[in-house]
Amino acid sequence: MQPILDRLEQLCQEALRQIQNAAEPVVLEGLRVQYLGRKGKLAEFTAQMGQIPQADRPAVGDAINRVKQTVTTAFQERQAGFSARPPGKQFAFDITLPGIPQPIGHLHPLTQVIEQICEVFKGLGFVVVEGPEIETDRYNFEALNIPADHPSRDSFDTFYLEGGEYLLRSQTSTVQIRMMEKTKPPLAIVAPGKVFRPDAVDASHSFMFHQIEGLLVDKGVTFSHLKGALDLFAKRLFGKETKIRFRPHYFPFTEPSAEVDVSCLLCQGKGCSVCGRKGWLEIMGAGMVHPNVFRAVGYDPKKYTGFAFGMGIERIAMLKYGIEDIRLFFENDVRFLEQF
Ligand code: DAH
Repeated sequence: MQPILDRLEQLCQEALRQIQNAAEPVVLEGLRVQYLGRKGKLAEFTAQMGQIPQADRPAVGDAINRVKQTVTTAFQERQAGFSARPPGKQFAFDITLPGIPQPIGHLHPLTQVIEQICEVFKGLGFVVVEGPEIETDRYNFEALNIPADHPSRDSFDTFYLEGGEYLLRSQTSTVQIRMMEKTKPPLAIVAPGKVFRPDAVDASHSFMFHQIEGLLVDKGVTFSHLKGALDLFAKRLFGKETKIRFRPHYFPFTEPSAEVDVSCLLCQGKGCSVCGRKGWLEIMGAGMVHPNVFRAVGYDPKKYTGFAFGMGIERIAMLKYGIEDIRLFFENDVRFLEQF
């Protein structure tokens, strides 16, 4: 009888050791089947009872039951350990818990205003294009009919890169030249983007800001086309009641040139502190494309005419939303940005 009791004891120790070492619930379940299952190792002992002398049977039966009990208990304890502290990749997932909210961002107010402006001109058939921020003298000045002694070419007014060959564009008018060089007329484009000027930063100045340039070239384009387009633009962007006016001005790349004002958004032209009691707010420069600009890109100024305009985005956004300091756009303070 002793050999069979020894084998039982051996089996018991083996089972306890394996149960203790089971790293995952699936392994534990495998062990349960292997030892306690209907065709498991303990069941084999029970099946052999018939070959054991009658007198020994009660003692062997008792031993089998005790081992079964011990192994079952060890198995249950190990299983309880798993549900209390899920190991490895196994984890408890409660689908009823509320989710962790992800903060959702939105477009920067300047991007929103750029999109609004582009939308208006897209409705008139203009195409939105972009140009490089690092430019050469030709695109920023020369081809735009800006003479060599013009003050804007001074390093006080333009950022030159080391070596002097390249500069940071100080206006988006560069894109007029780039587009005309690679397209034949007719063409109608708007070009939003960053521009750079070495200005001291204050509430209304920044060394980097944004402009949108517009250019339309075709046969028979006149100043009244320009007025019509800008009048519609002002009404779409600022409201149906908005009026525009043109004041004579000088730009090298347009002739005639004008500065364009809109009726003050706050006082509707009556005069207030925002418009300096004038009732009007200056929002852009515009004019008819100078023949020299056409010559610079190989367009025939006898055949084609065109209009161009350029406006500062920050200024328009500040007027539209009543923002008093340009620096707010660039400080990335979410308390400001969240309001748009
Ligand atoms: N480039 C000018 C500036 O930065 C703005 C401007 C004026 C653009 C008249 C134009 C224009 O296209 O026709 O001050």
